[in-house]
Parts: sequence; structure tokens; C-alpha cells
Amino acid sequence: MASNVDRDYLDKTLQQFESYPYPDIPIEDPLNKDVEQLYKSSLVTARYRRDKKIITDLKNRAILDVACGTGATTLRLAWANPGAKIVGVDISPESIKIAEQRLKHHGFDEAEFQVLAIADLDQLNQKFDLINASDVLYLLPDLALTLRQLAQVLQSDGVLRGNLHSYYQRFNYYRAQTLFQRMGLMEDNPEETELGIAREFYAALRDGVNLKATTWSSGRGEIDNDQWILMNHLFQNDKGYTLPDLFEAFEQSDLTLVDMVDWQKWDWRKLFKEPDNLPAYLAMGLENADREEQLCFYELVQPDKRLLDFWCSHPLPSKKDFSEYWLEQSPENIVVHLHPCVKNFAPFRQAILDQGKLMPLNLSHCFPFIGQDSWLDRTLLTAFYAPLLDSSQALESLVCRYLKARPCYPGDLTPVKPKEAQDLIMSMIAEQEEWGLIMIEVQD
Ligand SMILES: C[S@@+](CC[C@H](N)C(=O)[O-])C[C@H]1O[C@@H](n2cnc3c(N)ncnc32)[C@H](O)[C@@H]1O
Repeated sequence: MASNVDRDYLDKTLQQFESYPYPDIPIEDPLNKDVEQLYKSSLVTARYRRDKKIITDLKNRAILDVACGTGATTLRLAWANPGAKIVGVDISPESIKIAEQRLKHHGFDEAEFQVLAIADLDQLNQKFDLINASDVLYLLPDLALTLRQLAQVLQSDGVLRGNLHSYYQRFNYYRAQTLFQRMGLMEDNPEETELGIAREFYAALRDGVNLKATTWSSGRGEIDNDQWILMNHLFQNDKGYTLPDLFEAFEQSDLTLVDMVDWQKWDWRKLFKEPDNLPAYLAMGLENADREEQLCFYELVQPDKRLLDFWCSHPLPSKKDFSEYWLEQSPENIVVHLHPCVKNFAPFRQAILDQGKLMPLNLSHCFPFIGQDSWLDRTLLTAFYAPLLDSSQALESLVCRYLKARPCYPGDLTPVKPKEAQDLIMSMIAEQEEWGLIMIEVQD
């Protein structure tokens, strides 16, 4: 049961989203073109990040989109997790109505929706393998309490994806919100009048003035989109967080970080001109720091992401370092899987199967989320990826195939030795497993 303070919060948020349901995207928009969003919405990705479990069948899996809004995130979850049961809840009846229509329009008639607050999730009488809480946690008054409420409906091996507004990245918007609060624009639900006043205010400011330059016209030209202003300058209950705030809330809710959702981009090494040539105190300090400390360092140096987007779960038994573990296993016990979102991404399939093409392919053109360029020559690409498009493969069979495709070195035509081919394939797997394109299974 919500307290009075919570009620006040809920009412303000509810009013805002009842009058302007979010996101304002046409129902017909398929939203499934963005392989990065699908990849991040996939239970397969989340579970593999959590404990290296490879999920191949989603039939008996249940996925909850908490605060689903008008269902854009729910539709992505449905596309990304075919066969799984999809449930969406939100406090805004208007948003739920649109979400339901959206999912039906795209053929997901089975998706279930309910008007429900996070505090009342136990009413669903169900636990979920994946919970998505996107663009909502920063609106609630007590983060640790909200996480506990979500954890109650999370399966023991399930994963919760959440995100928070970054205090450092959005600092200027918080200044704008404070100003508009002082001007009285946020006492009631901000609507057309308040939007008009905000627009007039910015129009009257000189262009170079800091607040205008950082929140209104910086690089985007003049902004004239109601929802954008409401979700930034006039956002009720919006609060900024830092990673230490998040880690403290995890402690209070007995949850643990699985990883950042765009983990490939949270790499402190990429912040330095010469990461292999750092002053000793810095290199040792960062190398030896735990993951949380490295992330906090990154956040302070480069707060470039609007969202602190994370996966978390119930505490895990201590994790072995998988990147070392699998390399120590006998190669005949290793099976290689292609992530289903990668496998089903049509432009990638076409690039692999198009035998006529000889130019190398940059994987990051297909999968920008890997965060760096990776050029692969066609022989390697075809020998390695083409069989994986059909099914998972034993490491040994990938090595055999590569040897057939490239029996000798092009320079002096000396034969490629099986061990050399195996080392090459294994180093490629290691790299692409870290980026998330490939998954490794070690069989007993
Ligand atoms: C910014 S929208 C995000 C919608 C959707 N998750 C997305 O990312 O597109 C926030 C949504 O959270 C809902 N919401 C806010 N507080 C909530 C609560 N306590 N319980 C359930 N829904 C809530 C609002 O009604 C609104 O639809």
C-alpha cells in the first residue's frame, strides 16, 4: 500500500503520462530494425552475461515489462524473445491502452497488459525470467525499495534490466528543472501553457547563455517537440543518480550487478591515448581495481551516457573468470554458438552468404554496439560464421573448415598447421565472445 509521500509522487507522474503517454511513436512503427535494441532486450544476452548460461528455448520463459508506457519497449522484448510470455504493466491506463494496441497490431495477441504500480507487482502472482524496467526507476522516491519490490517477482536465476538517469550527464537539465520549479511551472501537471512559457523563456535568452547552449540549442538546432521538453526540462520527479548511488541501493536490496548493458563501451582503457603506456600508479591501480571501481572511474572521467543502463540479479555464487576458464578446457569440449540476434540479422546473413564479395567486412558496421572496428577477411568470416548461421558448432569442426578454406599462407604458400588454425580461431572467438556476438559452451 502506497504511503502519502509515494501517492504524491505517483499522482504527479501519473498525470504527466496520462496527458502525454510515452513514447509518442506510431503504433505501426515496427521498431525491429534496430539490432542493438533487440540484442539488449534479449533474455539470451542477459542470461549469458549473468552466468554464461545459453538459453535456446524461450517457450516456458516469462518476461515482464514494468512501466511499459505505450509499449515500444514491450514490442522490442516480444521481437527479441520469440515464444516467451510477455507481460506489460504501467500505472497509466492511457499508456496501457496504446501498448495493448501496439502489440496486437504486430501480431503479439498473447501479450498481457495490466494497469498496475510497481509497489503492487506481487498481485501478478508470478515470477519472471527477465524484468525490464526502462526509464522509470529514476522517477520513484526510494530506489532500494523499488529494487526490492522488483526482486520479489524475479526468478532466482532471473535478470532485471533497469536504468537510471545519470546525474553527471544530465546535470544541465536538472538546473533547468530547478529553475522551472522555482518559476512555478511544475506545481501542477505541465501542459500547453507551461510548455509555451518554457519555449518563450528560451527564445528570450541570448544564444550563448549557458543554460540555453547546454539544454536547448546545443548541436540540435532549436527544439520544438512537446514530449522532448516534458521528458527533460519539465519532467516531474526526475532524479539523477551516480554509480555509487546504484551500488548502495544494490546492497540495500540484496541484488548484485551483472554488468552494464553497454558493457563494451565502459572500458577505461579507451579513455587513454596510450592505454599500454600509462604511469605505473595509474595502470596498476586501474588494472587491480574491481569492476565497480573501474566503472566509477569511467563515470567520473567520461559521463557521456544519459542512462546508467544495467543488468542485475539475485546474488551469484562466486564467478570463475570465464575468459580464462574456457581457454583451459580441452578444445573437443567446446561448442560455439552465435547469438540469435546476430544470426537473424538479415544484412549480416547476406554479407556472410554473399560468396561474390571479396572485401573484408567491418563487424561494427553491422553491430555498432561492439564499440570498435573489427575488420575480418572474407575467408575467415565465411569459414567461421557461415556454419554458425545454421547451427552451433564444435570448435574442432570450425578449425577443420578454416583449414580447408585456407590451407596455406598466401605469402609463401607454406601449409597452415592445425595448431596455428586452432589458435587463430580461438583468439577470434575470445574477442568476439567478449563483444557478445559469440557464446561459448563448455561440455563436461
Ligand atoms: C518515461 S516512461 C517509460 C516507458 C517505457 N518503459 C519506455 O522506456 O519507453 C515512464 C513510464 O513509467 C510509468 N510509471 C511511473 N511510475 C510508475 C510506477 N510506480 N509503477 C508503474 N508504472 C510507473 C509511467 O506511467 C510511464 O508510462
